[in-house]
Amino acid sequence: MEKFNIAIDGPAGAGKSTIARLVANALGFVYVDTGAMYRAVTWSILQQGLPLEQTADLIALTERLDIRLEPGEHGQLVFVDGKDVTGMIRSAEVTGNVSRIASIAEIRSILTAKQKELASKKGVVMDGRDIGSHVLPDAELKIFLTASVRVRAERRLKEISGDRPDITLEQLEREIAERDRMDEQREASPLVKAPDAVWMDTTEMTIPEVVDRILELCKTRVSGV
Ligand code: DC
Repeated sequence: MEKFNIAIDGPAGAGKSTIARLVANALGFVYVDTGAMYRAVTWSILQQGLPLEQTADLIALTERLDIRLEPGEHGQLVFVDGKDVTGMIRSAEVTGNVSRIASIAEIRSILTAKQKELASKKGVVMDGRDIGSHVLPDAELKIFLTASVRVRAERRLKEISGDRPDITLEQLEREIAERDRMDEQREASPLVKAPDAVWMDTTEMTIPEVVDRILELCKTRVSGV
């Protein structure tokens, strides 16, 4: 099979990263988690103590950063200037600030250029918010994954309970709804379904069901590659 690109977009907690990684493994493609890149920038800004309103400084830092994604045994590893930040970029502090950083148009264009470069040789499964609509408009297959806020909060609760032992489901639902609102309403490349993306509501689907459906779409939709 020839290589092609798959774009997977959708709101927080829809299962994008798990599903994108499994699809990439099944096809022997490279998985690129673009949310991890926005998180890596946010982590660096917080770590350097830069005031968040000084946008010019945030952009200058983003330009200097060397962000690398590498496959690891338990998922994708993220490095910033050679330092492994895989765990740190999932902290509550980063999660609470990343939407704000991701709304800065210049930061988006720096990361978008890196993402286009990563996909230029094809054979990439890339997940994010604006991949089908903006980063890879020519991707051979585009998926928009979603699920109810309640189910997304339940899934997140299972993932993060070690990190934030006191968090409640209701609190997580509020946080997820707020992050959706910020991602959907920002001016620069908001979270939106590309017109040619396949809509998949995963509220009542298991992970293997979603993966199988996408692999099926690869066969039927990406004919001739
Ligand atoms: O998928 P995630 O939760 O790791 O994403 C972190 C944040 O980054 C999220 O608030 C939306 C933003 N993001 C974005 O704006 N564009 C992308 N392509 C990927 C993520």
